Amino acid sequence: MGVTAQQVRDALANVTSPRGAPLADAGVLSEIVVNDGKVFFSINVDAAEANAWEAVRAKADAAVRALPGVTSSMIALTAERKAGAAPAPSARPQARGVPPASAHRAPPAAHGSPMSKQAPVEGVGAIIAVASGKGGVGKSTTALNLALGLRDLGLRVGVLDADIYGPSMPKLTGIREKPQLNDAKRMIPIERFGLKVMSIGFLVEEETPMIWRGPMVQSAITQMLREVEWGTLDMMVVDMPPGTGDAQLTLAQQVPMQGAIIVSTPQDLALIDARRGLAMFTRVNVPVLGIVENMSYFQCPHCGTRSDIFGHGGARLEAGKLGVAFLGEVPLHMDIRATSDVGTPLVESQPKSDHANAYRAIASRIKDRLRIAIPAA
Ligand SMILES: Nc1ncnc2c1ncn2[C@@H]1O[C@H](COP(=O)(O)OP(=O)(O)O)[C@@H](O)[C@H]1O
Ligand SMILES: [Mg+2]
Repeated sequence: MGVTAQQVRDALANVTSPRGAPLADAGVLSEIVVNDGKVFFSINVDAAEANAWEAVRAKADAAVRALPGVTSSMIALTAERKAGAAPAPSARPQARGVPPASAHRAPPAAHGSPMSKQAPVEGVGAIIAVASGKGGVGKSTTALNLALGLRDLGLRVGVLDADIYGPSMPKLTGIREKPQLNDAKRMIPIERFGLKVMSIGFLVEEETPMIWRGPMVQSAITQMLREVEWGTLDMMVVDMPPGTGDAQLTLAQQVPMQGAIIVSTPQDLALIDARRGLAMFTRVNVPVLGIVENMSYFQCPHCGTRSDIFGHGGARLEAGKLGVAFLGEVPLHMDIRATSDVGTPLVESQPKSDHANAYRAIASRIKDRLRIAIPAA
């Protein structure tokens, strides 16, 4: 017999709201979804009280994970401000807890280091975001191959798939297993190709419809960042959700990032999107390490002839105009797509190819810009 929603409710009996009411009776729980030992629900509270509720959420999470048969849980705090309520200073976005929905509209002015408001993730060196103005530009493919390129430089690398709406890492890595919990009830990331990987896609069945609202997204990502046993990493590559909307902005604010990489195709439109991406990171004071031009040119798989079908070079030109580094270009090539589709990314499966070299060259530029020393062998 698997775990039932009622058992989860019972497990919450000793968890109380900040005012002392039993959590299950406080009228704040969403539907409890239990799927093959995995438990999901959200706690919906007033944004002004979000900080006080974070401890309740953590307690509920611990109680659920202690239930025999529970393999993982994702308990999100969703905070919503009551109409007309004044913003509470205590509910400002920070590394832990959930920002109020209103925070999406008015991020604090960027000042000081992006790290000043955020606790670093213990054991994790540099966290870098791979972002794009829109989906479908090859952001996830680039993120994973760059992570492998960084691995080849001798770095210990993790990949956090923050694309909650369309997680790509299960497919791109071929990972099908779910993360296990350690003795401290923290999720252990899956190791593949020498990378530690975490994705919401490891927890949610593809068929399970998940409706993520803004604050829930941030809560889920904060948990994947802070409640996962990442161990010691030189670098964590975050595959950001596509776009530059409010949710992405808040996320960029919440995750203590040392730098961002913008992936763009050469087309003009994508470049306009890329510009928005730049503006977003500038607003939250995360340095943009540079632009990668993906699907930069077409290389015929038969004759090797190169054609600039998308107006190659746009990103390099644009990067120059914007005063941002151009990190390199990756061609549009069948092998990149085919290897991604079967879960053996190109840098792993064709390490000696020109394309793998292209990814490694970009990885090396990223490393240089972050000035990460290669750990002594
Ligand atoms: N350089 C490339 N050459 C060929 N296909 C690519 C390349 N980069 C990405 N793709 C393909 O384009 C599609 C979208 O890529 P994906 O990484 O999922 O984009 P995003 O994360 O931006 O939505 C995938 O089918 C992927 O295999
Ligand atoms: Mg993607």
